[in-house]
Amino acid sequence: MDEVMVAVEAVKKLIKENIIRDYTLDRPTNFDGYQDLYYQTNENIAEYLNLIDLTNKENALCVAGSGDQAFSLIYNGIKDIELFDVNKFTEYFILGIKKAMILKYNYSEYINVLNKLISQMTMPSEINEILLDLLSYMEEPYKTFWQTILDYNNHLQKEAKINTNFMYGLNVNAGLKIIPQFCPYLENDTNFNYLKEKLNTANIHFKYCNAINLADTFHKKYDLILLSNILDYAYVYWGNNWHMQNLNNYISDLQKLLKNNGIIFLHYIFYASKPFHQSDFYKPYIDYNSETYDLKYNHQIILVRKQESVKYI
Ligand SMILES: C[S@@+](CC[C@H](N)C(=O)[O-])C[C@H]1O[C@@H](n2cnc3c(N)ncnc32)[C@H](O)[C@@H]1O
Repeated sequence: MDEVMVAVEAVKKLIKENIIRDYTLDRPTNFDGYQDLYYQTNENIAEYLNLIDLTNKENALCVAGSGDQAFSLIYNGIKDIELFDVNKFTEYFILGIKKAMILKYNYSEYINVLNKLISQMTMPSEINEILLDLLSYMEEPYKTFWQTILDYNNHLQKEAKINTNFMYGLNVNAGLKIIPQFCPYLENDTNFNYLKEKLNTANIHFKYCNAINLADTFHKKYDLILLSNILDYAYVYWGNNWHMQNLNNYISDLQKLLKNNGIIFLHYIFYASKPFHQSDFYKPYIDYNSETYDLKYNHQIILVRKQESVKYI
């Protein structure tokens, strides 16, 4: 079986599992393989990108996630983006559905269709119309993938008599409303049109990769590295009582991927219960040579800049 058909079978399995579970939320903690995914970011990307000067920044190594980090970077003039993720479905969603939606729709249509995809109330026939409209904006292999999923949706309705929006179940953050101000390109229609233009000349590639192996997998130098809140799951690799040395070694490795003046967006923190510097949970991060910024909604971001120290050579 070729790779696209492997992906199709894996996502069909996810759809079936969602039906059997009656669409109750099943948020993964091990994201590996083909998994439900985030249709939209839950991070205030607009605010943290504003913290740094993006002039002359050209490329980025970036978690795939919902794609909002990548599209926000492209909006900000970053042309070359290497996406990585352990969830292989992110590639088909971002470079298939989401990219096609940006290219096809105007701002209000985009928000409207995203709302339809995430709503349990949307009729499956309407989802098929949306997918059909988007196919001509997709490149291979994404077109074949979504055409086959569309056919499967028809089968579910006609033969299995399943009358729910299968896209609803594939969204991890079901129930979360779209927060346009989190993404610079979703702030208004002018910004959205600006991204649309930039998208035509941007290069985005996807590679299946665990964040823990970035330094062994990628061999270029980047202006920016975006890790989202992946380190919330560091215990999976480093054990429950991971300490400063793990993080130190990890950052030393990532430094090798940075250009001069490069920046790592090391970790996004949600709803810090105490001010960052008093929190035991996040203590390992602050011993390191990092910068922490408070964001709106009690979120925070930790940045690490390229160190010129010989220890990273
Ligand atoms: C950590 S999740 C959380 C959502 C995120 N806050 C956002 O705004 O998109 C983001 C993405 O990280 C991916 N991920 C989680 N652990 C990973 C790892 N160890 N390596 C690579 N990707 C990982 C997930 O598959 C998911 O697509």
